[in-house]
Amino acid sequence: MSNINTLFIGRVLEHFETLDSTNVYAQKLLAKSNPFEGTVISTYNQYAGKGQIGSIWESSPGKNISLSIILYPLFLAPTQQFKLSQAISIGVRNFIVKQLTNNTVKIKWPNDIYVNNKKIAGILIQNTISNRSIQSSIAGIGININQASFSSAIPNPTSLTIESGKEFHLDLLIPQLCHEIEQVYLLLKQKKWKQIEEEYLHQLFRINELSNYKDLQGRIFKGSITGISKTGHLILEENGQKRQFAVKEITFL
Ligand code: BTN
Repeated sequence: MSNINTLFIGRVLEHFETLDSTNVYAQKLLAKSNPFEGTVISTYNQYAGKGQIGSIWESSPGKNISLSIILYPLFLAPTQQFKLSQAISIGVRNFIVKQLTNNTVKIKWPNDIYVNNKKIAGILIQNTISNRSIQSSIAGIGININQASFSSAIPNPTSLTIESGKEFHLDLLIPQLCHEIEQVYLLLKQKKWKQIEEEYLHQLFRINELSNYKDLQGRIFKGSITGISKTGHLILEENGQKRQFAVKEITFL
């Protein structure tokens, strides 16, 4: 792995030839020790990756980045969990933007990263909560880098290589990713909520665009995303009426 110029994210880096899931490994590490904040667990061959809402995250061996960052955001109350999700999304987006200039890179609510309307990265954050604050957090990040073809079961995937036609050196990318995430995490720690909120909305996929959605009842409707609630719910306006949705309650069509 190449040199890292961060304050804490990636200063301790445990890289594995192969691993079931970097999030699962990080969970075990947290259960038995007190890892340094910013410890990164990574592999280029994750064979049982976890996705959001119980889904799986697929990644071809040797092609992509799969890593988890251990953080202790004690400055966040349990009701502020979405702020961490926003910060990590912005950091991952900033990293991708730097690799792919001249492309539209957006954050799809809650925390997917999209390039030209296709998914390039997914984020799975697992927090341990006490009644006062977030005690620890595992920010799991999967980014498609050199994978050129995907199983047909994955809806609209893409990768850095597909979008740019170039091959990327995985070892060189990890320090850059750590740096971009640290920049935004430091803003979060300084409680620059407004700045983070504004950047998130500015980069939000389909903000203020009329598009098709499907709700839990299976009803397809045209709506426009107008914002995100304090708790991280999606606010969609349909015929002048605002409706709020949790992650499992809405499908982007
Ligand atoms: C999603 O979009 O469904 C979230 C995908 C998150 C995948 C990453 S890869 C590194 C980390 N380890 C896991 O098992 N999952 C996350």
